[in-house]
Amino acid sequence: MVDLDVLASLHGRSMLLTRDWSRAELDALAALAVRFERLDRAGRCPALLPNELAYAVFFDNSTRTKSAWAGAAARLGMHPVIVDGSSTQVAHGETAAETGAMLGMNAHALGVRHDLILGEGNRFMRELKRGIDDYLSAAGESRRVPVVNLQCDVDHPTQTMADLLWLRERFPEGLAGRTIAVSWAYSPSYAKPLSVPQGLVTLLTRMGAHVRLAHPEGYRLMDDCLADAARFAGESGGSFDVVDDMDAAFDGADVVYPKSWGPWDLMQERVAANRAGDREALADIERRALERNARHRDWICDERRMGLTRDALYMHCLPADIGAEVSPGVMERARVDVAREANKKVYVIMALLAAAKVPAERLAALWEEA
Ligand code: CP
Repeated sequence: MVDLDVLASLHGRSMLLTRDWSRAELDALAALAVRFERLDRAGRCPALLPNELAYAVFFDNSTRTKSAWAGAAARLGMHPVIVDGSSTQVAHGETAAETGAMLGMNAHALGVRHDLILGEGNRFMRELKRGIDDYLSAAGESRRVPVVNLQCDVDHPTQTMADLLWLRERFPEGLAGRTIAVSWAYSPSYAKPLSVPQGLVTLLTRMGAHVRLAHPEGYRLMDDCLADAARFAGESGGSFDVVDDMDAAFDGADVVYPKSWGPWDLMQERVAANRAGDREALADIERRALERNARHRDWICDERRMGLTRDALYMHCLPADIGAEVSPGVMERARVDVAREANKKVYVIMALLAAAKVPAERLAALWEEA
């Protein structure tokens, strides 16, 4: 049974970073997501938010998260609408706060993906939320319009919470004492954001796990994420280590999560080039990032490396670069597992929307309904 007081404390809440939420709040959210999954599988999802608009803006590509947003909103009886961020007036200079006010006056929940530029995505979401809140307050509206981070430069909370649900299903006794390797892996496709590994190390260290972060030199993550991961590990009885050796990270691991991200210095260069609107410079940075990645082609999750683990659970947020981040054989064996991992996101988003907008007593009644 979920703690009603904790559930009530989530009313009106936005999810911008998991580290903004307490462990009890994250556990309540996870419990609600599991409840929605059970109800959905039983064909008994209640349309808790009929005639409400769930608007989402994506400033980057997405397959899974767009689909999860639409699926979550539809299951709750909301109308999902997803727009391409580059088609909004943000591209013509409208500020995040102005955009928030304009979207917030019509919508009942707002999802945002803004993940490509370090230092910008999460700040954009906070400004957007300020614009919504200021407008609603000035207009005397009691309507709640939670903002849901659908991936920013710092974190990917709906992904990492989906990952947590999947881990808890596979390790029902808990993650305390389990060793989880979050490793960089080679990718030739594009310089990927840092937010998934950052989100993973700042969430899983709160669960008592022994988290090992591995990457080649030059692929560090944001300092505050690393500091938080170390602090959380100390508080939870887990541990957090950073190594530059994928084999060392995999050695004896219970879970492996190998994925690529961009080189730190070039991700910094991208900030200035983006501010200047310099498309040539951005293309050149991308080319150099892929050249840099190619120096580390041996960072692949293959059968040999999986052999170093304790028959580890392979995880990936998808899409994976098969043949680069992961061998075809390892991915084929994990094909259903990673799809089940991805499927958890729809229930995490349902839980975020419902916790923010539906009275806790009504949500508590869901425990009687399945
Ligand atoms: N993992 C994930 O966020 O997938 P999409 O980029 O397809 O949404």
